[in-house]
Amino acid sequence: MIRKTEKKGKAISAVENDAVEIVAPADKNLATETSTTADKSEKKYILRATGLQKIFDEGSFNVHVLKGVYLRIAPGERVAIVGASGSGKSTLLHLLGGLDRPTAGQVEIDGQDLTKMNQAEVSQLRNRLLGFIYQFHHLLNEFTALENVAMPLLVRRAPTAEAISRAQAMLTRVGLEGRLHHRPGELSGGERQRAAVARAMVTRPLCVLADEPTGNLDRENAQNIYELMLELNRELETCFVIATHDPALAGRMDRVLKLEDGVLKSA
Ligand SMILES: Nc1ncnc2c1ncn2[C@@H]1O[C@H](COP(=O)(O)OP(=O)(O)OP(=O)(O)O)[C@@H](O)[C@H]1O
Ligand SMILES: [Mg+2]
Repeated sequence: MIRKTEKKGKAISAVENDAVEIVAPADKNLATETSTTADKSEKKYILRATGLQKIFDEGSFNVHVLKGVYLRIAPGERVAIVGASGSGKSTLLHLLGGLDRPTAGQVEIDGQDLTKMNQAEVSQLRNRLLGFIYQFHHLLNEFTALENVAMPLLVRRAPTAEAISRAQAMLTRVGLEGRLHHRPGELSGGERQRAAVARAMVTRPLCVLADEPTGNLDRENAQNIYELMLELNRELETCFVIATHDPALAGRMDRVLKLEDGVLKSA
């Protein structure tokens, strides 16, 4: 069920699960969130973006990539973000994960406002609550697959033996049990991507932000990654926000949102 209302010059599409996206902000200066039934019930959101804008300053010109993004992710929700190449999907995920700062607007994770924190606090919150799968894996080249996957646990001060054993189990889950001691340079593109997925999930985070997690994978391995995500989602209520060009992956999500002209719309 989708209901549309006009309020303060904004068209709002409130979908069944109470998530609200601004469809077309008529006036950027009015890009503040409008009160809804969801606000009144003070529903808890794992992730919440409000009026998010990002302008890249390119010296002689500016690139206005995000122009007022509104997004709410409830516990256990799975959301796909689709959109043309260059529409800003990676930029948005980076802001949601606190890897970059918005030009305007707010990001809250589990009720905590990232835009009010310093970099160390943001990093700590990210390690505690989020898993991030980068579009280009970002594994550390000097460490083995096993060490890369154990790293987020070691950063959390988990005992080494436990971190290694959990990392090994997660690498086995993504089919890399035969590549534990390979460095990223000794893995194929798809194997690196699977190791990156294992690293994002090993801490069993509240929410996984994934940027094209199946971009380099064949059908079977992509399928394996979907299954792993769905399993974590069922077992632990892990939320997933996934930027993807893969219609099969988007089809496995609860909602599909499209990033177009700097705003998120229901796809
Ligand atoms: N650091 C940066 N400095 C300047 N411009 C940038 C920067 N990062 C991204 N952009 C620009 O912002 C726009 C959105 O980039 P982004 O990587 O978010 O797109 P995307 O939707 O993820 O694309 P793809 O589907 O190809 O991965 C692009 O036009 C890009 O050139
Ligand atoms: Mg991208």
